[in-house]
Amino acid sequence: MVIKKISKSNGSVKVPGDKSISHRAVMLGSLADGITEITGFLKGADCLSTIDCFRKMGVDINVNGENVTVKGNGLKGLKKPQDMLYTGNSGTTTRLLCGILSAQDFDTSITGDASIQKRPMGRVTKPLSLMGAKIENEYCPLYITGTKLHGIDYKMPVASAQVKTAIILAGLYAEGETIVREIEKSRDHTELMLGAMGADIDVNGLDITVKTTKNLSAVNVDVPGDISSAAFFMVLGAVMPNSEITITNVGVNPTRTGIIDVLKDMGADITLENMRTSAGESVADITVRSSSLKGTTIGGDIIPRLIDELPVIAVAAVFADGETVIKDAQELKVKETNRIRAVVDEFTKCGIDITETDDGMIINGGKAIHGADFKTYGDHRMAMSLTVLAQLADGESTLDDSDCACVSYPTFFDDFYKLGE
Ligand code: S3P
Repeated sequence: MVIKKISKSNGSVKVPGDKSISHRAVMLGSLADGITEITGFLKGADCLSTIDCFRKMGVDINVNGENVTVKGNGLKGLKKPQDMLYTGNSGTTTRLLCGILSAQDFDTSITGDASIQKRPMGRVTKPLSLMGAKIENEYCPLYITGTKLHGIDYKMPVASAQVKTAIILAGLYAEGETIVREIEKSRDHTELMLGAMGADIDVNGLDITVKTTKNLSAVNVDVPGDISSAAFFMVLGAVMPNSEITITNVGVNPTRTGIIDVLKDMGADITLENMRTSAGESVADITVRSSSLKGTTIGGDIIPRLIDELPVIAVAAVFADGETVIKDAQELKVKETNRIRAVVDEFTKCGIDITETDDGMIINGGKAIHGADFKTYGDHRMAMSLTVLAQLADGESTLDDSDCACVSYPTFFDDFYKLGE
Protein backbone atom coordinates (compact mmCIF):
# COMPACT_ATOMS: atom_id res chain seq x y z
CA MET A 1 0.00 0.00 0.00
CA VAL A 2 1.23 3.50 -0.84
CA ILE A 3 1.06 5.62 2.30
CA LYS A 4 -0.98 8.69 1.39
CA LYS A 5 0.36 11.95 2.72
CA ILE A 6 -1.79 14.54 4.40
CA SER A 7 -0.68 18.15 4.23
CA LYS A 8 -2.26 19.23 7.49
CA SER A 9 -3.72 17.49 10.51
CA ASN A 10 -6.55 19.31 12.19
CA GLY A 11 -9.67 18.37 14.03
CA SER A 12 -10.93 15.85 16.49
CA VAL A 13 -10.65 12.08 16.61
CA LYS A 14 -12.20 9.49 18.89
CA VAL A 15 -9.94 6.44 19.06
CA PRO A 16 -11.37 2.95 19.69
CA GLY A 17 -11.57 1.37 23.12
CA ASP A 18 -8.59 0.37 25.21
CA LYS A 19 -7.27 -3.06 24.25
CA SER A 20 -6.12 -4.05 27.75
CA ILE A 21 -9.40 -3.04 29.39
CA SER A 22 -11.51 -4.67 26.65
CA HIS A 23 -9.72 -8.02 27.15
CA ARG A 24 -10.15 -7.85 30.91
CA ALA A 25 -13.83 -6.87 30.73
CA VAL A 26 -14.61 -9.99 28.67
CA MET A 27 -12.44 -12.31 30.78
CA LEU A 28 -13.56 -11.07 34.19
CA GLY A 29 -17.15 -10.69 32.96
CA SER A 30 -17.04 -14.37 31.92
CA LEU A 31 -15.87 -15.35 35.41
CA ALA A 32 -18.34 -13.10 37.26
CA ASP A 33 -21.83 -13.86 38.48
CA GLY A 34 -24.36 -11.78 36.54
CA ILE A 35 -24.35 -9.78 33.33
CA THR A 36 -21.52 -7.47 32.31
CA GLU A 37 -22.51 -4.77 29.82
CA ILE A 38 -19.40 -3.44 28.07
CA THR A 39 -19.61 -0.19 26.12
CA GLY A 40 -16.83 1.20 23.94
CA PHE A 41 -15.41 -2.33 23.44
CA LEU A 42 -12.45 -2.55 21.04
CA LYS A 43 -13.52 -4.78 18.15
CA GLY A 44 -9.89 -5.37 17.22
CA ALA A 45 -8.67 -8.82 16.23
CA ASP A 46 -6.95 -9.42 19.59
CA CYS A 47 -10.03 -8.76 21.71
CA LEU A 48 -12.19 -10.79 19.33
CA SER A 49 -9.77 -13.69 19.96
CA THR A 50 -10.53 -13.36 23.67
CA ILE A 51 -14.29 -13.44 23.00
CA ASP A 52 -13.86 -16.49 20.79
CA CYS A 53 -11.92 -18.40 23.48
CA PHE A 54 -14.52 -17.72 26.18
CA ARG A 55 -17.40 -18.61 23.87
CA LYS A 56 -15.64 -21.94 23.29
CA MET A 57 -15.73 -22.41 27.06
CA GLY A 58 -19.50 -21.97 27.17
CA VAL A 59 -19.83 -18.27 27.92
CA ASP A 60 -22.73 -16.48 26.21
CA ILE A 61 -21.24 -13.29 24.71
CA ASN A 62 -23.22 -11.01 22.44
CA VAL A 63 -21.48 -8.40 20.31
CA ASN A 64 -23.43 -5.50 18.88
CA GLY A 65 -21.02 -2.92 17.48
CA GLU A 66 -19.05 -1.56 20.42
CA ASN A 67 -21.57 -2.94 22.90
CA VAL A 68 -20.82 -6.36 24.31
CA THR A 69 -22.98 -8.32 26.75
CA VAL A 70 -21.28 -11.09 28.71
CA LYS A 71 -23.47 -13.51 30.67
CA GLY A 72 -21.01 -14.62 33.33
CA ASN A 73 -20.64 -18.31 34.15
CA GLY A 74 -19.10 -17.66 37.57
CA LEU A 75 -15.55 -18.50 38.66
CA LYS A 76 -16.23 -22.24 38.48
CA GLY A 77 -18.57 -22.22 35.48
CA LEU A 78 -16.28 -22.50 32.45
CA LYS A 79 -16.72 -25.61 30.30
CA LYS A 80 -14.03 -27.71 28.67
CA PRO A 81 -13.59 -26.46 25.09
CA GLN A 82 -13.96 -29.00 22.28
CA ASP A 83 -10.75 -27.95 20.53
CA MET A 84 -7.45 -26.23 21.12
CA LEU A 85 -8.04 -22.53 21.98
CA TYR A 86 -6.65 -20.17 19.34
CA THR A 87 -5.47 -16.75 20.49
CA GLY A 88 -4.36 -15.32 17.13
CA ASN A 89 -1.76 -12.55 17.58
CA SER A 90 -2.74 -11.79 21.17
CA GLY A 91 -0.15 -12.12 23.93
CA THR A 92 -2.62 -10.76 26.47
CA THR A 93 -5.21 -13.45 25.66
CA THR A 94 -2.61 -16.21 25.75
CA ARG A 95 -0.90 -15.23 28.99
CA LEU A 96 -3.99 -14.27 30.97
CA LEU A 97 -5.73 -17.49 29.90
CA CYS A 98 -2.82 -19.50 31.33
CA GLY A 99 -3.62 -18.12 34.80
CA ILE A 100 -7.31 -18.97 34.53
CA LEU A 101 -6.99 -22.34 32.82
CA SER A 102 -4.37 -23.69 35.23
CA ALA A 103 -7.01 -23.74 37.95
CA GLN A 104 -9.92 -25.34 36.08
CA ASP A 105 -11.09 -28.91 36.62
CA PHE A 106 -10.55 -29.72 32.92
CA ASP A 107 -7.57 -29.80 30.58
CA THR A 108 -6.98 -27.34 27.74
CA SER A 109 -4.46 -26.43 25.10
CA ILE A 110 -3.68 -23.02 23.58
CA THR A 111 -1.91 -21.80 20.50
CA GLY A 112 -1.82 -18.72 18.30
CA ASP A 113 -0.32 -17.37 15.08
CA ALA A 114 3.35 -17.56 14.01
CA SER A 115 4.26 -14.50 16.14
CA ILE A 116 2.57 -15.91 19.28
CA GLN A 117 4.39 -19.21 18.84
CA LYS A 118 7.69 -17.32 19.16
CA ARG A 119 6.78 -15.27 22.23
CA PRO A 120 8.07 -16.41 25.62
CA MET A 121 5.44 -18.07 27.78
CA GLY A 122 7.93 -19.34 30.40
CA ARG A 123 7.50 -16.00 32.16
CA VAL A 124 3.93 -17.07 33.06
CA THR A 125 4.27 -20.84 33.15
CA LYS A 126 7.16 -20.70 35.67
CA PRO A 127 5.39 -18.70 38.42
CA LEU A 128 2.17 -20.61 37.75
CA SER A 129 4.01 -23.91 38.18
CA LEU A 130 5.25 -22.63 41.56
CA MET A 131 1.53 -22.41 42.42
CA GLY A 132 1.11 -26.06 41.41
CA ALA A 133 0.04 -25.48 37.79
CA LYS A 134 0.76 -28.15 35.22
CA ILE A 135 1.67 -26.57 31.89
CA GLU A 136 3.69 -28.28 29.20
CA ASN A 137 6.02 -26.15 27.03
CA GLU A 138 7.40 -22.64 27.28
CA TYR A 139 6.17 -21.64 23.82
CA CYS A 140 2.78 -22.23 22.21
CA PRO A 141 1.19 -24.71 21.83
CA LEU A 142 0.77 -25.00 25.59
CA TYR A 143 -0.92 -28.01 27.16
CA ILE A 144 -2.56 -27.24 30.49
CA THR A 145 -3.76 -29.87 32.94
CA GLY A 146 -6.25 -28.17 35.24
CA THR A 147 -5.43 -28.69 38.92
CA LYS A 148 -5.70 -27.27 42.43
CA LEU A 149 -3.36 -24.31 43.04
CA HIS A 150 -1.87 -22.77 46.15
CA GLY A 151 -0.78 -19.19 46.82
CA ILE A 152 2.82 -18.00 46.42
CA ASP A 153 4.86 -14.94 47.28
CA TYR A 154 6.43 -14.00 43.94
CA LYS A 155 8.93 -11.30 43.10
CA MET A 156 8.56 -10.58 39.39
CA PRO A 157 11.77 -10.67 37.35
CA VAL A 158 10.24 -8.47 34.58
CA ALA A 159 7.83 -5.54 34.60
CA SER A 160 4.85 -7.11 32.85
CA ALA A 161 1.15 -6.59 33.41
CA GLN A 162 0.43 -9.81 31.54
CA VAL A 163 2.57 -11.87 33.91
CA LYS A 164 1.22 -10.04 36.95
CA THR A 165 -2.36 -10.58 35.81
CA ALA A 166 -1.88 -14.28 35.04
CA ILE A 167 -0.67 -14.82 38.62
CA ILE A 168 -3.45 -12.68 40.12
CA LEU A 169 -6.11 -14.59 38.17
CA ALA A 170 -4.66 -17.91 39.31
CA GLY A 171 -4.57 -16.43 42.81
CA LEU A 172 -8.37 -16.03 42.78
CA TYR A 173 -8.60 -19.83 42.69
CA ALA A 174 -5.52 -20.72 44.75
CA GLU A 175 -5.67 -21.87 48.33
CA GLY A 176 -4.29 -19.22 50.67
CA GLU A 177 -2.81 -15.89 49.83
CA THR A 178 -0.96 -14.95 46.63
CA ILE A 179 1.44 -12.01 46.70
CA VAL A 180 2.90 -10.55 43.51
CA ARG A 181 5.75 -8.08 43.96
CA GLU A 182 6.43 -5.90 40.92
CA ILE A 183 9.83 -4.42 40.16
CA GLU A 184 8.25 -1.46 38.41
CA LYS A 185 4.61 -0.48 38.30
CA SER A 186 2.87 -1.83 35.20
CA ARG A 187 -0.70 -1.17 34.04
CA ASP A 188 -3.17 -1.90 36.84
CA HIS A 189 -6.47 -2.40 35.00
CA THR A 190 -6.85 -5.92 36.43
CA GLU A 191 -6.47 -4.74 40.02
CA LEU A 192 -8.99 -1.92 39.47
CA MET A 193 -11.58 -4.13 37.77
CA LEU A 194 -11.23 -7.01 40.24
CA GLY A 195 -11.58 -4.55 43.13
CA ALA A 196 -14.80 -3.19 41.57
CA MET A 197 -16.10 -6.78 41.20
CA GLY A 198 -15.59 -7.51 44.89
CA ALA A 199 -12.46 -9.70 44.76
CA ASP A 200 -10.33 -9.84 47.87
CA ILE A 201 -7.42 -7.87 46.41
CA ASP A 202 -5.16 -5.36 48.06
CA VAL A 203 -2.55 -3.12 46.43
CA ASN A 204 0.27 -1.69 48.51
CA GLY A 205 2.76 0.15 46.32
CA LEU A 206 4.39 -2.46 44.12
CA ASP A 207 2.89 -5.40 46.04
CA ILE A 208 -0.46 -6.95 45.22
CA THR A 209 -2.14 -9.47 47.52
CA VAL A 210 -5.05 -11.57 46.36
CA LYS A 211 -6.94 -14.16 48.40
CA THR A 212 -9.12 -17.09 47.37
CA THR A 213 -12.27 -15.57 45.95
CA LYS A 214 -15.66 -17.34 45.97
CA ASN A 215 -17.36 -15.12 43.48
CA LEU A 216 -17.02 -11.95 41.43
CA SER A 217 -20.01 -9.65 40.94
CA ALA A 218 -20.55 -8.37 37.41
CA VAL A 219 -20.08 -4.63 36.90
CA ASN A 220 -20.68 -2.66 33.73
CA VAL A 221 -17.53 -1.44 32.01
CA ASP A 222 -17.38 1.71 29.89
CA VAL A 223 -14.07 1.26 28.06
CA PRO A 224 -12.18 4.54 27.50
CA GLY A 225 -10.27 5.20 24.27
CA ASP A 226 -6.87 3.52 24.06
CA ILE A 227 -3.97 5.88 24.83
CA SER A 228 -1.76 3.50 22.82
CA SER A 229 -3.91 4.31 19.76
CA ALA A 230 -4.13 8.02 20.66
CA ALA A 231 -0.31 8.00 20.69
CA PHE A 232 -0.13 8.04 16.87
CA PHE A 233 -2.17 11.26 16.74
CA MET A 234 -0.26 12.83 19.64
CA VAL A 235 3.00 12.39 17.75
CA LEU A 236 1.45 13.38 14.39
CA GLY A 237 0.02 16.59 15.89
CA ALA A 238 3.31 17.46 17.57
CA VAL A 239 5.59 16.91 14.56
CA MET A 240 3.41 18.16 11.68
CA PRO A 241 3.43 21.91 11.05
CA ASN A 242 0.17 23.86 11.57
CA SER A 243 -1.57 21.03 13.40
CA GLU A 244 -4.02 20.91 16.23
CA ILE A 245 -5.60 17.56 17.06
CA THR A 246 -7.98 16.78 19.91
CA ILE A 247 -8.33 13.12 20.84
CA THR A 248 -11.48 12.69 22.89
CA ASN A 249 -12.31 10.24 25.67
CA VAL A 250 -8.80 8.80 26.15
CA GLY A 251 -7.94 6.59 29.13
CA VAL A 252 -5.26 8.37 31.16
CA ASN A 253 -4.69 5.84 33.93
CA PRO A 254 -1.34 7.00 35.42
CA THR A 255 0.21 3.58 34.68
CA ARG A 256 -0.26 4.36 30.96
CA THR A 257 0.61 8.04 30.54
CA GLY A 258 4.37 7.83 30.11
CA ILE A 259 4.03 9.09 26.53
CA ILE A 260 2.44 12.34 27.73
CA ASP A 261 5.31 12.90 30.18
CA VAL A 262 7.93 12.18 27.51
CA LEU A 263 6.36 14.32 24.79
CA LYS A 264 5.99 17.21 27.26
CA ASP A 265 9.63 16.77 28.23
CA MET A 266 10.55 16.95 24.52
CA GLY A 267 8.70 20.27 24.30
CA ALA A 268 5.34 19.19 22.90
CA ASP A 269 2.32 21.39 23.43
CA ILE A 270 -0.14 18.93 24.98
CA THR A 271 -3.09 19.72 27.21
CA LEU A 272 -5.54 17.47 29.02
CA GLU A 273 -9.07 18.71 29.50
CA ASN A 274 -12.38 17.41 30.76
CA MET A 275 -10.68 15.04 33.24
CA ARG A 276 -13.14 12.53 34.69
CA THR A 277 -13.28 9.05 36.18
CA SER A 278 -15.24 6.16 34.72
CA ALA A 279 -15.36 2.83 36.56
CA GLY A 280 -12.14 3.65 38.42
CA GLU A 281 -10.26 4.61 35.24
CA SER A 282 -9.20 8.22 34.56
CA VAL A 283 -10.35 9.68 31.24
CA ALA A 284 -9.57 12.98 29.47
CA ASP A 285 -9.61 14.78 26.14
CA ILE A 286 -6.08 15.36 24.88
CA THR A 287 -5.14 18.25 22.59
CA VAL A 288 -1.78 18.43 20.89
CA ARG A 289 -0.44 21.24 18.71
CA SER A 290 2.60 21.54 16.43
CA SER A 291 5.68 21.94 18.52
CA SER A 292 9.42 22.11 18.08
CA LEU A 293 10.74 19.06 19.83
CA LYS A 294 14.13 18.36 21.34
CA GLY A 295 15.78 15.04 22.08
CA THR A 296 15.58 13.37 25.47
CA THR A 297 16.56 10.26 27.42
CA ILE A 298 13.88 7.68 28.18
CA GLY A 299 14.61 4.85 30.60
CA GLY A 300 14.03 3.42 34.07
CA ASP A 301 10.61 2.99 35.62
CA ILE A 302 8.82 5.08 32.99
CA ILE A 303 9.35 2.24 30.46
CA PRO A 304 6.36 0.06 31.50
CA ARG A 305 4.20 3.22 31.38
CA LEU A 306 4.91 3.69 27.67
CA ILE A 307 6.16 0.31 26.45
CA ASP A 308 3.68 0.01 23.55
CA GLU A 309 4.23 3.62 22.49
CA LEU A 310 8.01 3.38 22.00
CA PRO A 311 7.89 2.82 18.21
CA VAL A 312 5.90 6.04 17.73
CA ILE A 313 7.96 7.88 20.36
CA ALA A 314 10.94 6.94 18.16
CA VAL A 315 9.11 8.73 15.32
CA ALA A 316 8.88 11.87 17.49
CA ALA A 317 12.63 11.55 18.17
CA VAL A 318 13.35 11.57 14.41
CA PHE A 319 11.81 15.05 14.16
CA ALA A 320 13.31 16.33 17.43
CA ASP A 321 16.55 18.30 17.48
CA GLY A 322 19.47 16.42 18.99
CA GLU A 323 19.90 13.00 20.48
CA THR A 324 17.20 10.77 21.96
CA VAL A 325 18.29 7.73 23.94
CA ILE A 326 15.80 4.95 24.64
CA LYS A 327 17.20 2.51 27.22
CA ASP A 328 16.01 -0.19 29.65
CA ALA A 329 13.54 -1.26 26.96
CA GLN A 330 14.74 -4.82 26.25
CA GLU A 331 11.09 -5.96 26.59
CA LEU A 332 10.59 -4.52 23.09
CA LYS A 333 12.45 -7.54 21.74
CA VAL A 334 9.62 -9.90 22.77
CA LYS A 335 6.62 -7.97 21.49
CA GLU A 336 4.65 -8.85 18.32
CA THR A 337 8.05 -8.60 16.63
CA ASN A 338 11.48 -7.48 17.87
CA ARG A 339 10.54 -3.81 17.92
CA ILE A 340 14.09 -2.56 18.52
CA ARG A 341 15.37 -4.33 15.41
CA ALA A 342 12.25 -3.52 13.36
CA VAL A 343 12.35 0.22 14.17
CA VAL A 344 16.09 0.48 13.54
CA ASP A 345 15.95 -1.43 10.23
CA GLU A 346 12.95 0.46 8.84
CA PHE A 347 14.08 3.91 10.01
CA THR A 348 17.53 3.33 8.54
CA LYS A 349 15.90 2.92 5.11
CA CYS A 350 14.83 6.60 5.32
CA GLY A 351 18.36 7.87 5.98
CA ILE A 352 17.67 8.35 9.69
CA ASP A 353 20.67 8.35 12.02
CA ILE A 354 19.62 5.55 14.39
CA THR A 355 21.69 2.97 16.27
CA GLU A 356 20.49 -0.24 17.85
CA THR A 357 21.60 -0.87 21.43
CA ASP A 358 21.10 -3.93 23.60
CA ASP A 359 18.21 -2.34 25.49
CA GLY A 360 16.87 0.26 23.09
CA MET A 361 18.14 2.70 20.48
CA ILE A 362 19.80 6.08 19.96
CA ILE A 363 18.34 8.50 17.44
CA ASN A 364 19.95 11.68 16.18
CA GLY A 365 16.99 13.68 15.02
CA GLY A 366 16.14 16.92 13.31
CA LYS A 367 17.48 16.00 9.86
CA ALA A 368 15.65 15.61 6.52
CA ILE A 369 14.46 12.08 5.74
CA HIS A 370 13.21 10.34 2.62
CA GLY A 371 10.43 7.81 2.00
CA ALA A 372 11.01 4.05 1.72
CA ASP A 373 9.33 0.70 1.14
CA PHE A 374 8.55 -0.36 4.69
CA LYS A 375 8.06 -3.76 6.24
CA THR A 376 5.67 -4.01 9.19
CA TYR A 377 6.69 -7.55 10.28
CA GLY A 378 2.95 -8.14 10.74
CA ASP A 379 3.09 -5.80 13.74
CA HIS A 380 0.15 -3.40 14.09
CA ARG A 381 2.11 -0.74 15.96
CA MET A 382 4.88 -0.80 13.35
CA ALA A 383 2.31 -0.23 10.57
CA MET A 384 0.79 2.78 12.32
CA SER A 385 4.12 4.29 13.49
CA LEU A 386 5.58 4.06 9.97
CA THR A 387 2.47 5.77 8.57
CA VAL A 388 3.15 8.74 10.86
CA LEU A 389 6.86 8.70 9.96
CA ALA A 390 6.10 8.71 6.22
CA GLN A 391 4.12 11.95 6.50
CA LEU A 392 7.23 14.08 6.89
CA ALA A 393 9.51 12.12 4.57
CA ASP A 394 10.42 13.40 1.12
CA GLY A 395 8.90 11.26 -1.64
CA GLU A 396 6.73 8.18 -1.53
CA SER A 397 6.59 5.42 1.09
CA THR A 398 4.83 2.07 1.01
CA LEU A 399 3.76 -0.50 3.61
CA ASP A 400 3.94 -4.22 2.85
CA ASP A 401 0.96 -4.92 5.11
CA SER A 402 -1.53 -2.39 6.37
CA ASP A 403 -4.16 -4.94 7.41
CA CYS A 404 -2.26 -5.82 10.59
CA ALA A 405 -3.43 -2.48 12.09
CA CYS A 406 -6.76 -4.27 12.72
CA VAL A 407 -5.18 -6.03 15.71
CA SER A 408 -5.68 -2.91 17.84
CA TYR A 409 -7.12 -0.21 15.57
CA PRO A 410 -9.31 -1.47 12.68
CA THR A 411 -10.32 2.05 11.56
CA PHE A 412 -6.86 3.62 11.86
CA PHE A 413 -6.37 4.62 8.21
CA ASP A 414 -9.90 6.09 7.92
CA ASP A 415 -9.44 8.16 11.08
CA PHE A 416 -5.95 9.20 10.02
CA TYR A 417 -6.90 10.48 6.58
CA LYS A 418 -10.04 12.22 7.89
CA LEU A 419 -7.77 14.53 9.90
CA GLY A 420 -6.13 15.66 6.66
CA GLU A 421 -9.39 16.57 4.90
C1 S3P B 1 -0.62 -5.66 28.17
C2 S3P B 1 0.60 -5.56 28.77
C3 S3P B 1 1.83 -5.23 28.05
C4 S3P B 1 1.53 -4.58 26.70
C5 S3P B 1 0.46 -5.32 25.96
C6 S3P B 1 -0.82 -5.35 26.75
C7 S3P B 1 -1.79 -6.03 28.99
O1 S3P B 1 2.58 -6.41 27.82
O2 S3P B 1 2.71 -4.52 25.93
O3 S3P B 1 0.20 -4.67 24.70
O4 S3P B 1 -2.94 -5.84 28.55
O5 S3P B 1 -1.59 -6.53 30.11
P1 S3P B 1 3.62 -6.99 28.92
O6 S3P B 1 2.85 -7.37 30.10
O7 S3P B 1 4.26 -8.17 28.25
O8 S3P B 1 4.58 -5.89 29.19
